Parts: sequence; C-alpha cells; structure tokens
Amino acid sequence: MRRPLIAANWKMNLTVEDGEKFITALFTEDIDYNIVDVVIAPSFTSLYPLSNLVMKGHAPIAIAAQNMYVEQDGAYTGEVSISMIKGAGATQVILGHSERRNIFGETDSFINKKVKIALNSGLGVILCVGEKEEERDAKVEVEVVLSQVGKCLKDVSYDDINNIVIAYEPVWAIGTGKTASSDDAECMHKRIRAFIKQMYNTEISESIKILYGGSVKPGNVKELMSMEDIDGALVGGASLKVESFIKLINFKNN
Ligand code: PGA
Repeated sequence: MRRPLIAANWKMNLTVEDGEKFITALFTEDIDYNIVDVVIAPSFTSLYPLSNLVMKGHAPIAIAAQNMYVEQDGAYTGEVSISMIKGAGATQVILGHSERRNIFGETDSFINKKVKIALNSGLGVILCVGEKEEERDAKVEVEVVLSQVGKCLKDVSYDDINNIVIAYEPVWAIGTGKTASSDDAECMHKRIRAFIKQMYNTEISESIKILYGGSVKPGNVKELMSMEDIDGALVGGASLKVESFIKLINFKNN
C-alpha cells in the first residue's frame, strides 16, 4: 500500500519567521500522521530553524530542500551542497523542478547527477517531470515525460530507487490555476508506473509513489487523490497558507 504524501513546495516564498508561524500552527491541528506523509520544502535559509522546530515538536513532518549543487564544497559562489542541506536537517530534496529546468537551464543529465549524489548520501529525492503546453498540444507529452524519467533515473540502483518519489507536474498547470483533469493525470501516472516496471520490476513499480503537481488546491485534491495511481500532491501556491495546507493534508475530509 502506498501511503499518501502531501508535499509543500514553498518556492521563493515565506521568511524564517513566516515558516515558524506556519509550522507552529500545524502543531495545533488534528492531523493523523499515520495515514498521510507530510513534507515541507522551504527555502535554504529556513531549513535549519524549521527542522529544529519540527524535531522539538516531535511532529513527523519531513523537511526537504528545493535544490542542491553537485559538488561537496569549493568555489561555487551562491550554491549549497548536499552536506550543508543534510547538516541543516533536511532529509529530502526536490530535484528537476520545471522552474529549475526552464529558468535555470537544468538538463536531464545534470539532474541525473544530482539524483545519484543525493541518493548516495541518504537523502530522499522528489524528482519532478512534466511536459510543456506546446508538447501536450503536439501530443508528445508521454514521450517527453518518459524520456525525462528515463534520463533522470539513469543508473539509479534497485536499492536507491526506493528513496525516490516521482512528481508529475505538467508545466502548463503550474501556478496557472489550470489543473490537469484527474483522468489525464491518472493516464500519465499509469504510463510512468508502467515505465518504472520496465526499467526495474513490478514490485518497485507498485511501491514507488507518484505525486501530481500543478494548481492542486483544497477544491480539487480529493478527486485527484481518488485516482488509483495518484499517490499524493506536490503543491506550490495552495501550500503557502496554513488553512489551505491543512485542507490538503486532510483531503479525505474535504
Ligand atoms: P502550484 O505549483 O501548486 O502553485 O501550481 C506546484 C509546483 O510547482 O510544485
């Protein structure tokens, strides 16, 4: 059984103080962490204070970085290494987000390098893939997404794949208010799962979590989560307000 996972990607939003208020507010909510996994990905500057806060509150909330650099240390002004992320308390990292790909020019092979380094050092990885609008219009979305999955997971071992969560995020649905229909999302999730079966085996394809991302909000989360192959959500905009994030975590009650 794949336990649902709701992940907040705060992107370049919320200060340390905002994040602390948010997490403190989560502590007062009635959340059954036995039935849902919760991940919060704040900016680098908030990793340490928020990991500490979560630890002190004994809340089973995982803190994830939104990115990392491939080198351990050295002259890479402005970059943050994996040991820094881990030292700050993050246990997971989001890699391959479309904003990293499209604004910062990250390629599948560069992402693959990061994926392997992160897994090697024991971090869980949320690997994002997704097609652009023109690719969907040209009906090549499946090829595009499966090619991203294949290239980003190249040479990832059978053991390490267990620490990967895939997030299917159609680029045209991110931050636009346009969500993929639950059927379209399910269709892509099924294709990704079948591809993982080809790359690895049935057991791995059945256990790997595949999240949907792109304008997920309290109003559509329940329907998306009702689909067989949608195991959770990676949420940007609707994760920034605690009231709305709680509704996403408690999607069953919506
Ligand atoms: P959104 O972002 O929920 O604001 O569309 C999702 C994401 O980019 O991960």
